[in-house]
Amino acid sequence: MRKPIIAGNWKMNKTVQEACILVDALKKGLSDVRDVEIVVCPPFTALRDVGKAINGTNIHLGAQNVYLEEKGPYTGEISPLMLKDLGCKYVIIGHSERRRYFGEDNELINKKVRKSLSCGLSPILCVGERLEERKAGRQEEVVYDHVVNGLTDLSKEDMMQVVIAYEPVWAIGTGVAATPEDAQEMHKFIRNILSSLHDRDLAEGVRIQYGGSVKPENISDLMAKSEIDGVLVGGASLNADSFVKIVRFKRRG
Ligand code: 13P
Repeated sequence: MRKPIIAGNWKMNKTVQEACILVDALKKGLSDVRDVEIVVCPPFTALRDVGKAINGTNIHLGAQNVYLEEKGPYTGEISPLMLKDLGCKYVIIGHSERRRYFGEDNELINKKVRKSLSCGLSPILCVGERLEERKAGRQEEVVYDHVVNGLTDLSKEDMMQVVIAYEPVWAIGTGVAATPEDAQEMHKFIRNILSSLHDRDLAEGVRIQYGGSVKPENISDLMAKSEIDGVLVGGASLNADSFVKIVRFKRRG
């Protein structure tokens, strides 16, 4: 059985003080939750303080990006060892905003994935098509490319540490989430890719999150789908009430 994983990607939001206020409210609102793995991904500047605040709780720490070397002359970059040192368990890699605004391609993303794994971090690999690609019926081709090339040269052991987040770009920050049926279909497609790259057992063990306009209003319908193992939440994770509601979604059936 795959344990659901619900993560908040705070993106470029929250001062250290604001981050601490938010995480304190999350600690209070979620302390009894055991059946969902909870992750918060603050900006780099707040990782240390948020990490201290959640140390020993049921909330895990994640970063939003990482560089592909452990150390050296890479001005302005942050290494996976540094993230591990701050207590990060997860790191988001290949978010569509990084692909779009910072020119990240699959080759770079794969290097980040592999270096993170070798430093003991679990990558949350983001994949997903843009609106024009979906309109052209190319969504599976694009997602196949992101998954296969993002996960090149990973052992089975490595694969078990990876989380995949299917985030259709047209659903991010738009208020228009994918329908649970469309997300389910794409998650199945991704699981079949993993099965063909490795084997069915491994594919059945990897968690696949959905991301894009997840809110308290649509979480239960999304989580009711067998292939949706959690969500990656942007905007609605910036507010304690809404993120608490999302983590505490009502189970259907
Ligand atoms: P929104 O939840 O704001 O649509 O963002 C989704 C996202 O990009 C999470 O990584």
